[in-house]
Amino acid sequence: MNKLRVAVFVSGSGTNLQSIIDHCENQKIDAEVIAVVSNKSTAYALERAKRHNIPTIVVESKKFKDRREHEAEIIKQLDIYKPELIVFAGYMRLVTPEFIRHCYNKEKNLPGIINIHPALLPSFPGTDGYGDAFKYGVKYSGISIHFIDEGVDTGPIILQQTFPRYDSDTLEEFRERGLKIEHKLYPMAIQLYAHNRLKIEGRYVKILEE
Ligand code: GRF
Repeated sequence: MNKLRVAVFVSGSGTNLQSIIDHCENQKIDAEVIAVVSNKSTAYALERAKRHNIPTIVVESKKFKDRREHEAEIIKQLDIYKPELIVFAGYMRLVTPEFIRHCYNKEKNLPGIINIHPALLPSFPGTDGYGDAFKYGVKYSGISIHFIDEGVDTGPIILQQTFPRYDSDTLEEFRERGLKIEHKLYPMAIQLYAHNRLKIEGRYVKILEE
C-alpha cells in the first residue's frame, strides 16, 4: 500500500509531531511525514523534524499583510511536496475557507485537514482545552480529533477518548494524562484516513470496516 503523504503543521513543542514521526518510521501506520510547516521560527517541533531529515517550511505570519497572503506563501512552498493530508498538531492559527477548500482531498472525497483538540468537544473549544476543562472542574475530560471546518474546533469529530481528573491532580498531571492519549489517538486517526476508513454522513464520521 502507498504511504499517505502527511504534512504536519506546528507552532510549539511538537510532542504530537514526534509521536506521528515515530509511528511512521516504525511502520505502525501507513504514512510518511513529507514536510513540517510552522508559523514560528522558534518552535521546538522544527528541531524534531530536522533530526529526522524531514523538510521544514517556516512562514511567519507577522511578515504578511493578512491571512490570505500568509496562506498563499505556505501553499506555494508546500504544494511541491504534494501532501494528501494536513495534520494540525498544536498549530495556533485559524485558516480561511479558501485554504480549507484548497486542501480538500478529492481522491478520498474527504476534507484534507485534521486537528487534535485537548478536550471533549463541543466542550472547551479554543486555545486552552486542558486549562479550561481543569478550571471548570470536570471529572472527565477527553481528546478529540476532528476535521477542520470554518469554525473554531467545530468540524466533524473523527475520534474521541475520555480520561479522568483525579482529586489530587495538578493541571500538569491532568495535561500529562491527556497528552499520553493524544500521542496514541492521532496516529490512529491518520491510519484510518490512510486506509479509507472514514466516511462523513452529515456531521457524523463513520468508521468503516477494513
Ligand atoms: C496539544 O495539547 C494539542 O492537543 C493542542 O496543542 C498541543 C500541542 O502539543 N492542539 P505538542 O506541540 O504536540 O506537544
